[in-house]
Amino acid sequence: NERLYEFIEKMDAPQKLKEAMLYSISAGGKRLRPCLMMQFYKVLGYNPKEILDFACAVEMIHTYSLIHDDLPCMDDDDMRRGKQSCHIAFGEDIALLAGDAMLTAAFEIASENTDTANAVKCINLLAKAAGMWGMGAGQCLDLQSENRQISADELKEIHKGKTVAMIKICAQVACAMANVSQDVTLKCEKYCDNIGLAFQIRDDVLDKIGDEELLGKPINSDCENNKNTYVSFYGLEKCNEYVDTLTSGAIDAVSDFDDGSLSKLAEYLAKRKH
Ligand code: IPE
Ligand code: IPE
Ligand code: MG
Ligand code: MG
Ligand code: MG
Repeated sequence: NERLYEFIEKMDAPQKLKEAMLYSISAGGKRLRPCLMMQFYKVLGYNPKEILDFACAVEMIHTYSLIHDDLPCMDDDDMRRGKQSCHIAFGEDIALLAGDAMLTAAFEIASENTDTANAVKCINLLAKAAGMWGMGAGQCLDLQSENRQISADELKEIHKGKTVAMIKICAQVACAMANVSQDVTLKCEKYCDNIGLAFQIRDDVLDKIGDEELLGKPINSDCENNKNTYVSFYGLEKCNEYVDTLTSGAIDAVSDFDDGSLSKLAEYLAKRKH
């Protein structure tokens, strides 16, 4: 958190924009993605502090995606991380620019503070995960799926893009920086494919049965927007079963080298209430 605030505070940006960025980033997200990246790196035998800045860059991209996701032209949600959404607090214009600013700042930070032979590869992977090979594309497909029936494959494709990509990048960067074998990388990626999909299914479940106070964002948003979600598709019971199956698959994938922390994290995420 301190490093994230530091990066934003020292930006030579208009005061209003900095305030909006700080407002959204300090609003108390779970920090899953940066923690995951650093934990992978640790499990692979390295000091997680070495990739703190890259992890901050990933959290900035994630926070930008939430600011834009809440805009009236997207999910139109007024609450985020327990506070008013950025556009409610600062106006749509500033929220849009605060999102843009954090997306670009993330690449500035990742490129300035990453001093390894694999830096360019990692930055390329990050661009792909955030953009049209990943989250950006998933968000577009998500919007285009409103008010119509889609197939199970299309639904999986949406979740893979909008959520799995930014979770998987955490393993990909940690593995590239740690220079591990392709075999280990594939296992870490599989863990992320599984917990990433489970994470979005749990998000869909919490949109239905979550406690708004705990979640810090509105419930029933998906239903109000006529979204296709795992809950609308399969029902709550099947969703819970699917989350459990995916969680076991994740734990199995990394069992050769997990120190216990990755399996604990997967289990925590499956039952999370926010
Ligand atoms: C919310 O992400 C958006 C999804 C991809 C489901 P998180 O649940 O990680 O949100 P924060 O960062 O904890 O607020
Ligand atoms: C969005 O999924 C994922 C992002 C890339 C932001 P949702 O729209 O379901 O996320 P929430 O429920 O608003 O956090
Ligand atoms: Mg959305
Ligand atoms: Mg949303
Ligand atoms: Mg949601």
